[in-house]
Amino acid sequence: MNTYKIAVLKGDGIGPEIVDEAVRVLETVGRKFNIEFDYSEGLIGGIAIDTVGSPFPAETQRICEQADAILFGAIGDPKFDNDPSAKVRPEQGLLAMRKTLGLYANIRPVAAYDSLLNLSPLKESITKGADFVVIRELTGGIYFGEPRGRSENGQTAFDTCVYTKEEITRVAKMAFEYAMTRRKKLTVVDKANVLATSRLWRETVQAMEKDYPQVVVDYMFVDNAAMKLILQPTYFDVVLTENMFGDILTDEASVITGSLGMLPSASKGSKVSLYEPIHGSFPQAKGKGIANPIATILSAAMMLEDLGETVAGKAIRVAVDKVVAEGFLTADLNSINPHSTTEVGRRIAEVI
Ligand code: IPM
Ligand code: MN
Repeated sequence: MNTYKIAVLKGDGIGPEIVDEAVRVLETVGRKFNIEFDYSEGLIGGIAIDTVGSPFPAETQRICEQADAILFGAIGDPKFDNDPSAKVRPEQGLLAMRKTLGLYANIRPVAAYDSLLNLSPLKESITKGADFVVIRELTGGIYFGEPRGRSENGQTAFDTCVYTKEEITRVAKMAFEYAMTRRKKLTVVDKANVLATSRLWRETVQAMEKDYPQVVVDYMFVDNAAMKLILQPTYFDVVLTENMFGDILTDEASVITGSLGMLPSASKGSKVSLYEPIHGSFPQAKGKGIANPIATILSAAMMLEDLGETVAGKAIRVAVDKVVAEGFLTADLNSINPHSTTEVGRRIAEVI
């Protein structure tokens, strides 16, 4: 029997509810395929600030570093958003964790489900067959660049976008390798007509093209890509982009699937990887049992596949497909006869 140590970081808002369903599903595949999970829970985000005064406590870092994989829910709490003077914010926990654990590549697959095509505000003729993956750089760019802050008189604020060739190369390598396993088409999204960092991105990726002669590479400005994504999403196979463009474009891309609650992600570096839904903590839904657990459950499937448990990962995907096709879904995707977070999790487990 294979045993894996999983760090479980539930976080804020709906985080605990959706992670509980992912754990239920992991337990179910574990029983079926003889896999054991040894969970350690860590605090992160607003709850960590309230409990121990730090959004990414040292103890949580230790748990993550000792784990084979990290399953993460969501962070964020409006009580911090509405207080611009707050010294520590939940989001700092997520950013600190990405940086400390070296999670430089965020893999965000986007695929349209045939049975949900009618739920997207986009026409079926546009979304049908859409299937691409966004590789978002995760530990550089304007999210982390220095200097950042305010001028002394407080009247000016600044953030700095910085990229090194090394940061671009390592994430681009991952994107080329992904493309090799797919339709061998890579679209690099940048703003090279304006930004120096984007020009370094282009130059760096262009120089790598010769190492992957089978991959067809094109370069697209981010404004154009934002339009193309909803005008012709089937155009894309692998999209590679910097931190903030990737953040924005993937929320946009979720419209293709019909709900932000469907999109999973994996964040990878050289050591332990982290699996999380791309959505946030949805504070308005906290405790109501209405959050869609599928993005987190699919994140758990990605985790299993990366751990080498491909059969178990596939079993989760097959079960999710079936439950989606049945329409056994939460209110974001089934407003007429909605099921609760727990009911959807249980149904997926049952199908497995
Ligand atoms: C995401 C989130 C985070 C980000 C926030 C919560 C800091 O929006 O994972 O996409 O901007 O990276
Ligand atoms: Mn985001």
